[in-house]
This record gives sequence, structure tokens and C-alpha cells, in this order.
Amino acid sequence: MTFSAGGRVVPWWSQHANRSEWARMIRRAVAFGVICVVMIATLSAGLSAQTQPARSLPGQPGGIEDASLDARVESILQKMTVEEKVGQLVQYSAGQPTGPGTGRTDYNDMIARGQIGSLFNVIDPNEINKYQKIAMEKARLHIPILFGLDVLHGFKTEFPIPLGLASTWDPSIVEKASRVAAMEASADGIRWTFSPMVDIARDARWGRMAEGAGEDPFLGSAMAVAYVRGYQGARLDAPDSIAACAKHYVGYGAAEAGRDYNSTEISEHTLRQYYMPPFHAAVEAGTASLMSAFNSLNGMPSAANAFTLKQVLRQEWGFRGLVVSDWNAVGELIPQGVAAEGATAARKAFLAGVDMDMVSSLYHDHLQQVVSLREATQAELDDAVRHVLRLKLALGLFEHPFVDEGAAAKALYHPDSIALAQTAAERSFVLLKNAGGPGGKALLPLANGIKSIAVIGPLGDDSSYPGGAPQGAGPRVSLPTALAQRIGGDQVVRFKGTGILDGTDAEIAAAVAGAQKADVVVLALGESPDMSGEAASRAHLGLPGRQQELLEAIVRTNRPVVLILFSGRPLTVPWAFEHVPAVIAAWLPGIGGGPALARTLFGDVNPSGKLVVSWPRSVGQEPLYYNSLNTGRPPGDVDLTRPPTDIVSKYVSRYLDEQNSPQFPFGYGESYTSYSYGTTTISTQRLSAAALNKSLSSRTVAMTAEAEVTNTGSRPGEEVVQLYIQLRGTSLAEPVRMLKGFQTVAIAPGEAKKVKFELKPEAFAIWNDRNEFAAEAAKVTVWISPDSARGSAAQAEIVP
Ligand code: NOJ
Repeated sequence: MTFSAGGRVVPWWSQHANRSEWARMIRRAVAFGVICVVMIATLSAGLSAQTQPARSLPGQPGGIEDASLDARVESILQKMTVEEKVGQLVQYSAGQPTGPGTGRTDYNDMIARGQIGSLFNVIDPNEINKYQKIAMEKARLHIPILFGLDVLHGFKTEFPIPLGLASTWDPSIVEKASRVAAMEASADGIRWTFSPMVDIARDARWGRMAEGAGEDPFLGSAMAVAYVRGYQGARLDAPDSIAACAKHYVGYGAAEAGRDYNSTEISEHTLRQYYMPPFHAAVEAGTASLMSAFNSLNGMPSAANAFTLKQVLRQEWGFRGLVVSDWNAVGELIPQGVAAEGATAARKAFLAGVDMDMVSSLYHDHLQQVVSLREATQAELDDAVRHVLRLKLALGLFEHPFVDEGAAAKALYHPDSIALAQTAAERSFVLLKNAGGPGGKALLPLANGIKSIAVIGPLGDDSSYPGGAPQGAGPRVSLPTALAQRIGGDQVVRFKGTGILDGTDAEIAAAVAGAQKADVVVLALGESPDMSGEAASRAHLGLPGRQQELLEAIVRTNRPVVLILFSGRPLTVPWAFEHVPAVIAAWLPGIGGGPALARTLFGDVNPSGKLVVSWPRSVGQEPLYYNSLNTGRPPGDVDLTRPPTDIVSKYVSRYLDEQNSPQFPFGYGESYTSYSYGTTTISTQRLSAAALNKSLSSRTVAMTAEAEVTNTGSRPGEEVVQLYIQLRGTSLAEPVRMLKGFQTVAIAPGEAKKVKFELKPEAFAIWNDRNEFAAEAAKVTVWISPDSARGSAAQAEIVP
């Protein structure tokens, strides 16, 4: 850990990318008993949102690699028949939702015969115990069932969607949120979550952007580690720990044209430099499991990809946890075209490294035969089974297979958890625009004397703040209620205006009439939760239904308007950014959304969230991401707001009808105060590639960079200060900028703080033209900046 200049504790890996070194360092610390101290602190803190557990470390007691598990794994394995071994590799969904796959329902009989290793989507503790009783009492070897679920951003206490959580740029809040999720889910009997989703998402058409941490591998890695730490706690066998599952390995977010499940073509360089790092970070942090993805990657479906699953994951990264397929992905090898029938699909997935088959039933149907025909060896089968048994043992399931049915309810919706969800929401909001108030001032925060507010729009009700966690419910306070609690019930009026997808002229007219009588209009527009997430790709990214019409009608009333956008992705609403004075991206803020928004509107909270995805102007710009390569024809000074007029303005990399730049860049977010950034200074202008490469995995500091950030406004604020670098002259083209550090700094009005970053050798290394991770001779530019498009630059050089 390190203290940022602002005094807030920032885990050091949020500034430094050297995770393997981190792992080594913490291993050493463990040897000295540090973990015990943290555990005691964790236990004594109970349900408090402040708990900061240590992670379950690879290779250390309590983690998935715990060496003390080996003997027990072997002893169970020795007793197993081939049928029982295969059974451990079989998983079904025994509850809602249902989907493609076999749709078997004879789970009781199968469990009794040792034919099922894991079930998921069973949420009722009573039902969990019923299944478990069969496994523990009727099945020959009494191997417990592992119960899983998509606990994505909270179990019952819903936190903001992961895209929102990432917009806090605060891994510690993600870790705390995941801890709460683990405590609630484990109390319910669920010991395995299919989370975090660490897919890099560069295309807002892809609905699953909502489930991840955005487009950047450095930030994505920090968030991946935070989720794993939060879920798995100090030890996997602690009753309130759940196993994490980093998904979807790998490249799923690059689905062509943003259409879910679509194929991907990704070079090995791009795969290793951008798409793989968050998975590697999760592995280094000790994730107990990984889920292979749906997508074909360069022609090979992820569930049959031995390069990613065996060569990289097992051999290079040394992963010893469990690999589960995605839903029916083994079966989907047939439509994807690498298997003509089920037996081949099972064989290919198994040999590629998928240990557990989620719902397709093809392992159940064919794996025994695959082994008896010697298409796979006994040793390979044993290895896969070891991964399952190891996880069940690590979780302590053999000792404690049953859940205390009375305890479950008590763990849910703890006041501290709800308070944390609200804080997370407050920190997740990104203020995109703030102008147009009285006397040319900013409209937000609203003045305390405001007498009447009209909350208009389809997303202004209690039901509008879900994070999309299907099982979440709980006490919600809607935005109108939260505002009414603040300024008085009679002062807040509510009009739907239109539905999300459909609406009537009369509804719009009523909303316009309501707006005309209000001091301020708060417009709640955007997408319903089911318009992002899985199978929710969109080809149009504007406001759905008649919402744009409603927006324009309300703006025409000339009342001051604050637009709150609820969505699982950035929405292309250029008209709104031009005509509405204040706009907040609220994502899908979860259970605390209403009060969090009310507090933000009135300035109890000063927004500090920043974008983790580039916000497009129009859908035709997608995929759009800040860390792109330069072209040979960059537009330079060409005015891209006008069509080309001559060869100079035409023959550059541009659109005829749109600018290249995003509406708002990655890292962008405004505040109720303002900041000015001083000059970036660096500790050295000259680095040596040879020296960097010698100490690539060390914690030595290769360069420090510093800039003064001043709060030039009149409110205290927290600013996410970012550090980017660019390398030029390398063997492969490198992006125009790469994030290499970030810190949240609290700065009082008028105060100036020096913000310092330490860059380790790894920050200057790339995946080069020989597929090696190494530093090369290059020109280096370093920026310390408020987002990916600004900041003063310092220059350095890496000599050979
Ligand atoms: C399919 C999704 O792709 C995956 O993320 C999820 O974990 C599984 N279904 C299980 O629900």
C-alpha cells in the first residue's frame, strides 16, 4: 500500500503494473505472518464496509494452490471410478434462467450416482441443502456439490454495475463491494461466483461492456485484483469467502461489430498486451477459477483453444485453479464449426483445457468414451478432476457442505452494506457537463433554496436503479422520494413522460406542462437494465423509444434541465450535450442510486467519477478507444468538424461526416470544483533498455514523474490524477497513450498538491515483434493529466 499525495490510501498496484513482483512480495509477507494479523482485523471488523481482507494467495495456505490440499486430493482421486471422475467435471443450471443446453432435470438421481460436480442458479438455501444432502449421504464418495451463481456486483445488496464501479477508479471500493457480495452469497450457500468479468471492451454496441471495467488493461487489471481479493478474502475456507471466476477468457469483448457471441480476430500482440493482462492479474491475485469464453478467436473457439488455455494459462502463468466453460460453449463448438458431433466437441474442449462443462452435458455423455478410446489419457482426466477437488477442499466444503438456512437472511442488506452501496454509487457518477446556471454559473449543484423539482422520464422511479443483479431486491429509495425527503414532499412532482421504448403524445404533453411549473427539471432517461449485459447488443446507441422527443420537448420549455443518463454503456446523445446544461452519467447505480443522486444534485457529494470507456459521438466511430495506434495519416491540424475541402484535409485518416475524437475521452469527468495541472516533470530523461530488461520483474523505480495539481475552485474535491506514456520507435507500433498510473487525491479549495508516480521497469515494456515482453529503445513521452486527452508532456529516451 502507499499513500497518495492526497492522503487517501491507494493500493500500490493501482499505480504500478508489476503484479508478479506483488505476488512475490506478499508471499514473503505471508511467511512473516502478516496475513494472520489482517485476518484477525478482518474478523473483528465483522460486516463493516471497512474490512480489507488479504487475498487468498497462490501457493499459500488458504489459496487454491495450498500445498496441504495435495494429499487429500490424491486420496479422493484414488477411490474414484472413471464415471465419478467425469461426474466432477459436469455442471448444470438447476434454476432460472434456462437456456440452450440439455435441459436435464434428473439432478437428484445424477447426484446420487456421483455424476454432477457443480450446480448453479439455485438460490434457495433449503434447496441447496437438499441437493447437498444427496451428495453427502447417497453418493458413494460423499463429495460435496459446488454451488455457483452470477454474483456480479452484489448478491442481494446491489452495487452499481461493474462499469459504474470501475468509474470510481477506486479498487478499494470494488474490493469492499465484492466482500459484501461474498458475505451475502456465502450465507445463502453459494460459494462460487462467475465474476469478475475482466473482458476489455472497446465497443459500446457490445452490451456486456456494462459488466466489465472498460477499455484499459491497466485499470482493468487493478479492478480484477480488487474483485478477487474481495470475493476470496483471506482464506477460501473462511465461511464468508467465495471463489472468484475471471471471465470470459479471452478476447470476448472484441466481438465483431459489437454483436454478442460474435467471432474475434485479434493478433497475438494485441491479445497479450491488451486483452490478457486483466486475466493474468486475476491469476496472480489467486483467482480460484477462470471461465473460457464463447467467441472464436482467430478461428478457434475459446472452449477449444489449447493455446490460450494450456500454453498461456497453465504453462506460462502457472494457473492451478479450475477452468469452466461458458454456458453450453462445449456444445456450441458444433455450430461454431470445429466439431461435427457431440463426442468430438467434448474431446476437443477437454483436450484444450476446459475442466468443467457448463450445462451442455457432452462431458457426461462422451468423456468416459473419450478416455476409454485413449483419445485423452487417464492422467489428463485426473488433472481436470484435481482442479475441481482442489477447489472444493480449499473452500472447506467437505467439512462444511451445508448452509445454515436460518443465517442467510441475517446476512443480507446489512445497513453498512447498503451505506457502502450508496457510497459506491456516489463515486461512480461521472459529471459530463455542467453549465447553464443562473448568472452564467454552473447549474449544479442545485441551490438549497429550490422550491420545486419535476422528475421526468421513464427511469425516475424506484424500479429504476437496479444494477442488473437478477436476485437483488431490497429497500430502495427512489430519486423523487430522496429529493422529497430533502426539500419537502409537495415540492417534487413526478412525470413519466414516456416509456423506455414506447410512449404517448399525452404523456409527453403532461410532462411538458409539469416542467413548465418547476424551478428545475431532472430528466431521468436512458436504457432499461435488460438493454445491456448479455445478449443485449445495440446497433443504435441513442436514447431508445420516444425519449429524444421528450428530451427536446422539455428543453424547449426553457426550464433549467439536469439530464441523468442511466445506461450500461455510453449513449450517443450529441443533441443533449449541446442543448442540456448539466448531464450526469449514472450508469445503473444499484440499491443506493436514489439517495446518491439526490446528494450529488445538491452538492453533498462532489462528483469524482471518470470515464473508463471513450464516449462516442456516433455509433459509426465504434470500436473507439483511447489507446489506439497512430496512423500514417493522422489529421493533425485539419478541422474535422467540416467536410474535406482539398487534398490536405481529405487524404488523412478521418470520416467525411464525423470527427475522430470521442464526445468525451477515456478518463474524463468534471467536478463541482476545478483543477489546474502544472508541468509534468520526470526524474530522468534517459533509461537503458538493457537495464530495464534486467530488472523487469523487480520493484525498483525506473522513473518518477510529478506534477502539481491545484484546486482552483471553491469546493473540496477528489481528483483522479492519471499518468500516461507513449513509446515511439519500437519494433511494433505502440498506442498514442497508455495508462500507467492513477491516484485519487483529495484537494481543498485553493490548495496545490504535488502528485508523484513511481514507474517500475515493467511500465516501459511492450509485447514486441518477437512476442516477448521487453523494453526496447524508444522515445518516451510522459503525461500527468486529468484524462487521456490532456496534460503537459515530458520527454525521455530509452537507449539500447
Ligand atoms: C453465460 C454468460 O456468458 C456467463 O457470463 C455466465 O456466467 C453464465 N452464462 C452463467 O450464467
